[in-house]
Amino acid sequence: MEVVDVIIKAGMKNIVILISGGGSNMAAIVKVARREGWQEKWRARVAAVISNKASAGGLVFAREQGIATEVLDHKTFASREAFDEALSTAIDRFDEPGQPALVVLAGFMRILTPGFVSRYEGRLLNIHPSLLPAFPGLHTHQRALDAGCKVTGVTVHQVTADLDHGPILAQAVVPVLAADTAADLAARVLTQEHLIYPRAIADLLQK
Ligand code: GRF
Repeated sequence: MEVVDVIIKAGMKNIVILISGGGSNMAAIVKVARREGWQEKWRARVAAVISNKASAGGLVFAREQGIATEVLDHKTFASREAFDEALSTAIDRFDEPGQPALVVLAGFMRILTPGFVSRYEGRLLNIHPSLLPAFPGLHTHQRALDAGCKVTGVTVHQVTADLDHGPILAQAVVPVLAADTAADLAARVLTQEHLIYPRAIADLLQK
């Protein structure tokens, strides 16, 4: 085996999770990674959580878990490009030799520039609370109710320049019940999010 192979295999696969709020998907990923021993099995770990909001509840959990956290307040940047540039700098600190970080959007409420998206092509994931390609964008649960859907769900997908349209990695379906409100649906879908996001990431790590 060449020396370079040894170095490449020794590199840790760092997962960087981007959040804006409660971070329940992030917490689910962290818990499954620990429970299933991703670090021992695949040399993969959640290395950092980055938020564009200092008030994001998920930061508290991440800190308690000893995970590196960083806040980059988008309002303090002059342009979307400048914010994304700073975000890239923060993420790229977690690249290891031969092992670029996996970037996981988990309730990260920012539209990313095409430059950012292409920089992380193939290693940038998102979770969207609808059965894509139905209902890209916001207010997915209300829109599913308004459309009279009998089922809805959640999609994990690769991020491409086309918002909420990248290749689908995993989906889960939930029923829409007669008396459901958007909040009921959101809660039902969220329980599935917590199951399929860690699974989709684990599948990717094994490839
Ligand atoms: C989830 O419903 C996710 O699908 C959407 O935003 C919500 C984030 O929830 N993009 P959380 O911050 O992971 O609890």
